[in-house]
Amino acid sequence: MEINSPYEHHDYDVLVIGAGGAGLRAVIEAKQQGLKVGLITKSLLGKAHTVMAEGGMAAAMGNVYPEDNWMVHFRDTMRGGKMLNNYRMAELHAKEAPERVMELEQWGALFDRTKDGKILQRDFGGHRYARLAHVGDRTGLELIRTLQQKVVSMGTDVFMECKVLRLVHDDSGKVAGCVAYWRATGEFVTFSAKAVILATGGVGKSWKFTSNSWEGTGDGHAMALWAGAELIDMECIQFHPTGMVWPLSVRGILVTEGVRGDGGILKNSDGERFMFNYVADMFRAETAESPEEADRWYDDHTAGRRPPELLPRDEVARAINSEVKAGRGSPHGGVFLDIASRRTPEFIRRRLPSMYHQFMELAGVDITREMMEIGPTCHYIMGGVKVDAETAATAVAGLFAAGEVAGGMHGANRLGGNSLSDLIVFGRRAGMGAVEYVQGGQGATGFNLEEVDAAVKEALAPFERESGENPYDIQRDLQEMMQANVGIIRTASEIDEAIEKLEEFTDRVKNIKVKGGRAYNPGWNLATDLPSMLTVSKCTARGAQQRKESRGGHTREDFPKADPNFGKINFAHSMPSGGGWTSEIKTLESPLLEIPEELNALLEEGK
Ligand code: FUM
Repeated sequence: MEINSPYEHHDYDVLVIGAGGAGLRAVIEAKQQGLKVGLITKSLLGKAHTVMAEGGMAAAMGNVYPEDNWMVHFRDTMRGGKMLNNYRMAELHAKEAPERVMELEQWGALFDRTKDGKILQRDFGGHRYARLAHVGDRTGLELIRTLQQKVVSMGTDVFMECKVLRLVHDDSGKVAGCVAYWRATGEFVTFSAKAVILATGGVGKSWKFTSNSWEGTGDGHAMALWAGAELIDMECIQFHPTGMVWPLSVRGILVTEGVRGDGGILKNSDGERFMFNYVADMFRAETAESPEEADRWYDDHTAGRRPPELLPRDEVARAINSEVKAGRGSPHGGVFLDIASRRTPEFIRRRLPSMYHQFMELAGVDITREMMEIGPTCHYIMGGVKVDAETAATAVAGLFAAGEVAGGMHGANRLGGNSLSDLIVFGRRAGMGAVEYVQGGQGATGFNLEEVDAAVKEALAPFERESGENPYDIQRDLQEMMQANVGIIRTASEIDEAIEKLEEFTDRVKNIKVKGGRAYNPGWNLATDLPSMLTVSKCTARGAQQRKESRGGHTREDFPKADPNFGKINFAHSMPSGGGWTSEIKTLESPLLEIPEELNALLEEGK
């Protein structure tokens, strides 16, 4: 296809945006089918939030508990997600995860082993059986290392430090590529492609305390919405119960659930193991529709052997929040995580080497002897682009999405360890979906240069104003406001205020002034991130306003119970394609897929 881009230009069959686990796995799939594939990352290869899934990847391999199987994993995932999940995604995930893990091993991943040489599996919250394949507490890193090596060995074109601004369509409305700029030079670059796969990760940087690093600004979520796709479940945000709280400079950095999975317990300032006080109440108030059901769920999850620290993350985060609010917190506003009194120093250093190193280096705390101070940190968004379970296709022709940027798989709450397996299951499926689309001759046939022009003009506007606001001031105010108003516990008045404030921030973003040149200018980079951060925050706030119940990663103080009617719907957000990032967002109820009878029977089992 002849494209007269005024900028450096590249052309591919399949373009993958985002180089975390899902993006890398999608590249492998499309390359294996012989297509021409380009991979773009705004960061460096190897530096993705994937590495923050430290404790393992969930797959019902049955290596530690032979009675484990895909059906139990499916049930745990649906129950953990408070039944808001796209059941078909949860089913495919549970069925395909073991094969994807074995494939990683064949590609060189070095998993920890059982005594008889099988892949070892560890306990994590909400999983009935120990089923997380892991590499100490560095599993995400090993996954990235393995996939990256494969991608590079296949001779893939990788564009690093290249920030995508907008997706570009052809005249018929199909996605046809994107416009981006090089962070190093500030020069623009365009990419045309027959199919585009978004694998851009999450949105955590809109909150003050987060495990996400600077990349987590919701670019893919926002670009998909602007391009005409729908976002669902955006109100469901996961606050991982254990982030560092001290020193302040590192607040939010993840403390893996593997600490609790390997025996760590939570204590308040009275030295009490407080989680026992919460379990039954939480199920009653939040999940169950009757006390009898609450008791059944509790028995099923605890199964007579699971410690309360291994309840799903939403439950544990809320319990910690309550302890702190009740004045039983640690000196710096968290609670204590204790593995020192439960395991030997040798065990801790062997199983949790990164945690040992992280606390020693950053906080001067020796976790083999002392307790850690921890508190909830914004870790993951369950919501994302609405996709077809089989192909990862969005509602916009030519656009696919996988990993954290896609919604549906995890419902209202994700179980720990289900994200790494999600990346490899649906990264592969997105690759397959894109290949089928391209090989079927459905790919875009043009490239709308007017869209490129508009995106470039908007990106350069902050340099052209005589005066205006500093983007860092807006970012700080946004993060503080989202933490306070749309955090772990929400109420109508706070959410309404958030929605108003987000409109004010939008006006402020239109008036940003950036100083200096375009080469490696972090202020400018942030100015180009803010439209995405505001767009996804608006969807989160709108979903939170409309979901008048509590479910998973969405807790309303004014509606503390789950409402069965809300259990049947997602809130789907959309925008007119091509209308610009400040266009009005439409939020509509969208019914969940009906679960087939044989799967429903599985969900009933063990109740
Ligand atoms: O705690 C952790 O290691 C995180 C895992 C995950 O988010 O899946």
